[in-house]
Amino acid sequence: MKNHKLLKSLILILCSVVFIQCTSDPIAGPAGADGINGADGTNGINGVDGATGTATCVACHSESHRDPVNSSYLVSNHSIDKLAFGPGTLSDYINHDVKETESNEYYNPDCNRCHSSQGFIDNLNGTFVAGVAYDKVDGVSCNTCHDKHGTFDFETDGHDFALRTLSPVTLAFDETIVLDYGTSNTCINCHQPKDGAPINDGTDTYEITSPYFGPHYGAQSTMLEGIQGAEIAGSMSYENAGTAKHRTNASCTSCHMGSANDNDGEHTMKPTLNSCTTCHSGATSFDVNGTKTTLTGLLSELQELLVTKGILTPNAYGGVDVVQGTHPFKLVQAYWNWKFIKSDGSHGIHNPVYTKALLTNSIESLK
Ligand code: HEC
Ligand code: HEC
Ligand code: HEC
Ligand code: HEC
Ligand code: HEC
Ligand code: HEC
Repeated sequence: MKNHKLLKSLILILCSVVFIQCTSDPIAGPAGADGINGADGTNGINGVDGATGTATCVACHSESHRDPVNSSYLVSNHSIDKLAFGPGTLSDYINHDVKETESNEYYNPDCNRCHSSQGFIDNLNGTFVAGVAYDKVDGVSCNTCHDKHGTFDFETDGHDFALRTLSPVTLAFDETIVLDYGTSNTCINCHQPKDGAPINDGTDTYEITSPYFGPHYGAQSTMLEGIQGAEIAGSMSYENAGTAKHRTNASCTSCHMGSANDNDGEHTMKPTLNSCTTCHSGATSFDVNGTKTTLTGLLSELQELLVTKGILTPNAYGGVDVVQGTHPFKLVQAYWNWKFIKSDGSHGIHNPVYTKALLTNSIESLK
């Protein structure tokens, strides 16, 4: 009760103060006209898509997305482990019960590094032991190249496609050469040459001691990089390593795994015209501006010169074989360039400028 009374008297005092103030103010006039509307505010910045939202995951992990990936991979030669070669199949000397087939003349466990799943994975992990056979090896499958995501923050870190490796690749034949091709590093772990361009020991001659003399395996990576050709001086100069337009603007995966045109692209890993037209609008074949025709012509011209000079000899199958023994160094260099461009297999498309320079200068040096 007491408190209530106190409160009442406080309110009264407060009211009288307010009253006094009101009465001392001048009396307000009539309301003015409405002001004009202000300009619209600028739109706010759009919110960032939820990078880890399940929609992003499902877009790639749904059955409907996986079906074409699986079916296109079946078309790829990577998925077929029976490659016809010599009297047997590739499987005979690198696959299945390899220990039992050691009598096979083609058997060599070192091939597993690039021709089997176990060898590829062990090599990435640094646990591949040369010369030692596996009890059993499998062909290349999804889990050979893919493992698990290193990040789920694709927005910030870029997409890793759950690839087993994104690391730069140190070439096995020369550990001073390190190539970094992003997601294509998966490819160049295998698509790298076995040997580099010949080196002059000062005698201006060179001895060829093997019928397989050449880059041997996948020369595509060194070709794209513009290195390991035998750079004979001539009327064309050589671009700096790593500066080719297809190296800086495209990649193994962008040209070979683009959207399908016709049983190509995606996981067939065969080059697709759809990739070319993103840059060469209007291209109707890989022979953009007739460049493939020009370079194939130069390659044939070089081959004929190499036969004339006696470093190549026609064989019984309509092809040509290298002539082993000691040859002038320049001739061996020209031979190397012919072999390098043939091994690359792209008819110059990987690096048109480097290919043209190697061919032109080699032909000049032999004429
Ligand atoms: C651009 C395609 C793509 C996107 C987007 C994607 N993934 Fe994957 N993910 C893959 C591939 C490729 C693999 C490996 C091959 C396979 O397992 O099918 C994989 C594998 C996985 C695996 C199996 C790894 C293991 O250890 O077994 C999990 C789990 C996974 N992803 C979760 C996710 C989640 C969660 C998201 C969303 C945040 C996501 N993925 C988004 C492509 C993708
Ligand atoms: C550094 C990785 C690597 C190693 C090691 C390797 N290969 Fe290969 N091999 C490749 C690549 C890449 C290709 C495909 C090259 C191409 O198409 O230009 C290939 C292609 C082949 C082909 C041709 C297949 C065809 O259908 O045209 C044969 C045969 C072959 N290799 C046998 C061997 C043998 C035998 C060994 C062991 C002595 C071996 N390879 C070691 C990477 C390798
Ligand atoms: C020889 C290596 C290799 C094999 C084998 C392989 N992939 Fe891939 N895959 C890649 C690479 C490299 C990329 C990244 C492509 C890029 O950079 O755009 C990729 C991307 C993907 C993607 C995301 C792009 C897309 O097309 O949706 C999926 C999903 C995928 N792979 C699933 C699979 C599945 C399933 C298999 C087995 C059927 C498989 N991969 C086999 C190398 C491989
Ligand atoms: C595990 C080693 C390995 C990896 C990884 C690999 N390749 Fe190959 N690739 C080979 C071998 C070996 C051959 C030849 C034998 C064969 O066809 O299986 C080959 C053949 C090819 C061919 C010609 C045969 C065909 O199917 O048309 C192309 C093109 C090719 N690879 C592109 C790629 C691209 C692009 C990548 C990366 C996305 C890649 N490869 C990753 C080992 C590999
Ligand atoms: C500019 C696009 C482009 C880039 C980048 C590219 N390729 Fe190619 N590649 C092609 C084309 C086009 C062909 C086929 C040319 C032809 O048919 O004459 C080809 C041919 C090949 C072949 C021979 C195929 C066969 O059937 O013999 C292999 C193997 C190959 N590429 C692997 C690779 C690898 C590995 C990389 C990355 C180091 C790469 N390519 C980068 C477009 C490209
Ligand atoms: C990311 C862009 C890009 C892609 C994809 C691409 N190229 Fe190119 N290409 C170039 C550039 C840039 C040049 C250099 C053009 C110049 O110097 O005039 C070039 C040059 C060429 C040349 C020699 C120069 C000429 O115009 O005659 C050929 C041939 C060629 N590309 C073919 C192809 C083929 C085939 C494909 C698809 C397998 C392809 N390119 C994919 C960008 C690309």
